[in-house]
Amino acid sequence: MKRLAIFASGSGTNLENLLTKIRDKELKAIAALVFSDKPGAPCLERARKFDVPVVSFPPKAFYDKHAFESRVIETVEQYEVDYILLAGYMRIIMPRFIKRFPWRIINIHPSFLPAFKGAHGIKDAFEARSEKTGVTVHFVTEDVDAGPIILQEEVPIYPGDTLEVLEARVHETEYRVYPQAVKLVLEGKVTVENNQIKFVEQK
Ligand code: GRF
Repeated sequence: MKRLAIFASGSGTNLENLLTKIRDKELKAIAALVFSDKPGAPCLERARKFDVPVVSFPPKAFYDKHAFESRVIETVEQYEVDYILLAGYMRIIMPRFIKRFPWRIINIHPSFLPAFKGAHGIKDAFEARSEKTGVTVHFVTEDVDAGPIILQEEVPIYPGDTLEVLEARVHETEYRVYPQAVKLVLEGKVTVENNQIKFVEQK
């Protein structure tokens, strides 16, 4: 079974959802590591409810961000991780890290990419008075929020929605779509060729 690391920085509801699916064997993988760059973040409390190694250290404990990321890479290697799932990890992954794990780092973004890239995807769609937004799961590349898309799903925005209502609707979709996308990758149904997603026909 493949070994997964899950990276988070904040609330950690996607992290908890993924760990729950792994524990309940709906997602056939090993939760090998949870990492957070925010030692006090709520995501860590969520992770500690599960039988998974939890590691957390902040960038400010290091000389610079390269030294921080070197330690992150070492940690991932130490736990012999196959795939890294970003679940609300609020740091840009540097090129060196991406090259070390080609097509092994997956992210969830709360919009229908390429629309509403960036750190505030839900709020930006809401404030733009868009009629719809969505959820996208993609491989991480050096271009932020722009890697090959594994799965994406639209989420409607209704006229009476508050931002909170919309956030809840987007998150509910994330909890369904992220495990589904990871499953496709783990089962070998999705690969990347020439920077393009390829859905593999199964016999
Ligand atoms: C999610 O909306 C995810 O798409 C984005 O950050 C948010 C994290 O929420 N990248 P949570 O920490 O999983 O609750």
